[in-house]
Amino acid sequence: MERLKFAIVGCGKIADRHAEQISDLAQLKAVCDIVEARAVNLGKKYGTKPYTDYDKMLSEEKDIDVISVCSPNGLHAKHSVKAFRKGFHVVCEKPMAISVFDCGEMIKEAEKANRRLFVVKQNRYNPPVVALKQALEDNRLGKILSVQLNCFWNRNPEYYSQSDWKGTLKLDGGTLFTQFSHFIDLLYWMLGDVKHCHAYTRNLNHKDQIEFEDCGVVILEFFNGVIGTINFTINSFNKNMEGSLTVFGESGTVKIGGQYLNELEYQNIKDYRISDLPPGNPPNNYGQYTGSMSNHNMVYRNVIDVLKNNGIIGTNGFEGLKTVEIIDKIYSASRSIL
Ligand SMILES: NC(=O)c1ccc[n+]([C@@H]2O[C@H](COP(=O)([O-])OP(=O)(O)OC[C@H]3O[C@@H](n4cnc5c(N)ncnc54)[C@H](O)[C@@H]3O)[C@@H](O)[C@H]2O)c1
Repeated sequence: MERLKFAIVGCGKIADRHAEQISDLAQLKAVCDIVEARAVNLGKKYGTKPYTDYDKMLSEEKDIDVISVCSPNGLHAKHSVKAFRKGFHVVCEKPMAISVFDCGEMIKEAEKANRRLFVVKQNRYNPPVVALKQALEDNRLGKILSVQLNCFWNRNPEYYSQSDWKGTLKLDGGTLFTQFSHFIDLLYWMLGDVKHCHAYTRNLNHKDQIEFEDCGVVILEFFNGVIGTINFTINSFNKNMEGSLTVFGESGTVKIGGQYLNELEYQNIKDYRISDLPPGNPPNNYGQYTGSMSNHNMVYRNVIDVLKNNGIIGTNGFEGLKTVEIIDKIYSASRSIL
């Protein structure tokens, strides 16, 4: 079977993960970054053509099937829409965009072009997350009552000073977009849509470094009656401490924890036990800091399965939009009680 052909826009930290998976499972035909050295370096490493002008790449590389969007959050919509208008499919890094309007435009353009939009939410493939999702689908925990999400990470001044877009409202959008959108996605995926929320957000320890909050507390009510809280911060001293989700159901309690939802920390379920979890991948390691579980291989396997074998998208544009909508609700709620 002929391999799918990809190009990447944005040749920064996460692009390397994409390039690695594309080279393994498909073909990488071109890469693009406005910083020439980054495009050239990634191009050299994977033996592919570098561009500094995205429009030029889209016009010249007619033989491509999919564009992988690895640019800053605030450019995802623009880069995706341009790709759809040229007839390409899109794999878009998280968050899908940083406004609900932009997500709508991406979905609209994908439909218009009859192309597919994949949103990268690789935490859905973490073994304990897969197991909890399955337990919920099988109604093992009974009626779900409440939920608690803790996101206790560290992002220090160097993290922000080394980037020209992280920490800005226009291109980053907020810690719930860049650090914690995976976690919000899991709330939506497991428990459904959010009806109401109340939130306090504050910038307590990154005052001259970022244009938005560095911590927050949120109270949620879901449409299905589940209530919950989110406590998030990038002020965990010195290093990431915890990324955890606890679900309380009528017939079971489960806590997935570790630093990045990688460990099954607690389970007590009536007549059922989650067992034999496969080992997970390590976290993405960016030198000075670590991120979520490095499951981009699963994301790309899904892309190929959908485009070659008529499979079902792991995280589609509608779900990507829902995460952005919930984050937007939280930020709107926090502004209303400042
Ligand atoms: N799935 C995950 O776990 C994960 C992890 C890290 C980052 N991300 C996401 O990936 C995206 C990139 O993050 P990163 O950490 O790699 O950032 P980065 O700053 O290292 O890389 C972004 C690159 O985009 C380039 N760029 C900016 N404007 C451009 C334009 N107009 N055309 C072409 N290139 C342009 C920059 O020069 C930079 O090299 C973000 O949306 C981030 O949220 C996802």
